[in-house]
Amino acid sequence: MHDTHAQLEVAVAKLRRGELVAFPTETVYGLGAAAFDEAAVAKVFETKSRPSTNPLIVHVASVDMARTACTEWPEHAQILAEAFWPGPLSIVVRRSERVPASVAAGGPTVCLRMPAHPLALALIEAFGEPIIGPSANRSGHVSPTTAEHVRTEFPDVFVLDGGPCRVGIESTVVDVTSNRPAILRPGAIGAARIETVLGVSLRNAPGEESIARSPGLLHRHYAPRTPTLLCEAWSEFDVPDARVVVLTQRGADVPKQFTAIHMPSDAEGYAALLYDALRRADAMGTELIIVERPSGPGDMSLWVAIGDRLERASAQDKHP
Ligand code: TXA
Ligand code: MG
Repeated sequence: MHDTHAQLEVAVAKLRRGELVAFPTETVYGLGAAAFDEAAVAKVFETKSRPSTNPLIVHVASVDMARTACTEWPEHAQILAEAFWPGPLSIVVRRSERVPASVAAGGPTVCLRMPAHPLALALIEAFGEPIIGPSANRSGHVSPTTAEHVRTEFPDVFVLDGGPCRVGIESTVVDVTSNRPAILRPGAIGAARIETVLGVSLRNAPGEESIARSPGLLHRHYAPRTPTLLCEAWSEFDVPDARVVVLTQRGADVPKQFTAIHMPSDAEGYAALLYDALRRADAMGTELIIVERPSGPGDMSLWVAIGDRLERASAQDKHP
């Protein structure tokens, strides 16, 4: 690896030429391109095989830069940015004309986030303009949390290596285009913290029906290729001869033909290792991945977000 400064120069030159650059954030690695460059945006959709109906997050290095991508910056956006930026919160506001319609899947809004990672911020600042950054994985597959994950997925893409991602699951997406904000994707920052700083109850707060959700967010998503089951305990399944890998928080009580991947007991540790564990499990080429439904100490909202990702990773898969 060359020094960081030289790596950044290469990355910025690529962005200026309309090429893609993968970059680290505190959540997962992003597949970056110049947000205001329609042709570069098209390359991102193509590289990921992403449906054009699924809009992209625009990454900024400051609130001033965020304002260049939207027509209005509501009070709620300002309060959230002051409380949580840089950090794992993406804020949906009204899109300015500078943002190509394709970034927003043709809609009137844009999703903005200032990531809490020194390399990501240095990249955006050096480039001087917003950078789109969907997770650097093929559409529907597990998000990458190390540079190595990205290289495995896209061998031809230049990757800025910032080490393993600290948070490990994607940002919370919150829509502030109406007076009653709504969470469209659960993430590391929970509903309760957002309600506290805004002083309003969210449209889909716990207990209210959760209707709002991000466009293009498929039920099956964040998914390994190996059939994946979510259950309370591996022992619910009688799979005598199958080769199985189990993500478990418990001691080594799994049968011999099972491979156990031991997961941390706390929410923060679990989230940080989840995607790496799913990718390792997938690479073992077994017939089945069993994930024991996790619980434990730590931030309850993070457990909610982890549960959301596990539901999607295991969606539509039937027990063989
Ligand atoms: O943590 C993250 O958010 C990571 C890192 C790289 O920043 N990025 C990420 O991007 O997860 P992606 O493209 O995998 O997920 C973007 C999410 C999708 O659920 C999408 O529907 C939602 O954000 N989204 C993007 N633009 C939106 C918009 N204008 N309105 C509503 N939801 C939007
Ligand atoms: Mg993604």
